[in-house]
Amino acid sequence: VTKKIIIAIDGPVGSGKSTVARRVAELLGYTHLDSGAMYRAIALKAMRKGVSLDDAAAMTMLAALTRIELVPGENGARVRVDGEDVTAEIRSPEMSRAASQLAVLEGVRQPLVKLQQSMGTAGGVVMEGRDIGSVVFPQAELKVFLDASVEERARRRLAEHRERGVEMSYEQMVEEVRARDKRDTGREVSPLRRAEDAVYVDCTAMDAEEAARLIVMLARAKAEEPGTTQR
Ligand code: DC
Repeated sequence: VTKKIIIAIDGPVGSGKSTVARRVAELLGYTHLDSGAMYRAIALKAMRKGVSLDDAAAMTMLAALTRIELVPGENGARVRVDGEDVTAEIRSPEMSRAASQLAVLEGVRQPLVKLQQSMGTAGGVVMEGRDIGSVVFPQAELKVFLDASVEERARRRLAEHRERGVEMSYEQMVEEVRARDKRDTGREVSPLRRAEDAVYVDCTAMDAEEAARLIVMLARAKAEEPGTTQR
């Protein structure tokens, strides 16, 4: 039998991680896990409760007392916070910004990393994020670093926002993507970086389907490798 491996997909904002990871999971019959959704979920709760995102002690407490669930569903996974479905709400630009802000806190990351690890131990998962190959699953059989040019990522994000009725100029979006890159790669705790053993996939000139099929091909090769541990 083919082994069920762990696939870690990391990359910057707008690289297409979510679309690609979802499609890879679909093609392989694996579970797609979006770790960014967890950071967004914590951000939403903090904003609602009026907890300041840079109050490390309060945020640590809040993260420890929050129950986050990713529930597989027909139209992609649902995200629940303390039992409430927040899937749609966490997709706003505000939550994206807030998540990036609180993701610098060790006390927030720790419980989320634990949760992510517990969800992946059985294998058969495609987890996307910033530190999946480097911190969450350093033992993942396949690590992919998905990238694209800043301009292309800004165009993709702009299209996504338009679909949701959020208007922004292209110049504004390029600035926002640059700022997000700076924060995600520049933070001290688990910065976004390419794991040494990650396959670098530049999908500037690839659509999501092409990138997904490329990753599926790599995954099949890994799963068939003699040294791959049976889970
Ligand atoms: O992938 P995303 O845009 O939904 O993630 C939102 C923010 O959460 C992102 O700016 C950085 C943070 N994040 C993280 O620090 N580590 C992860 N594994 C996933 C997301």
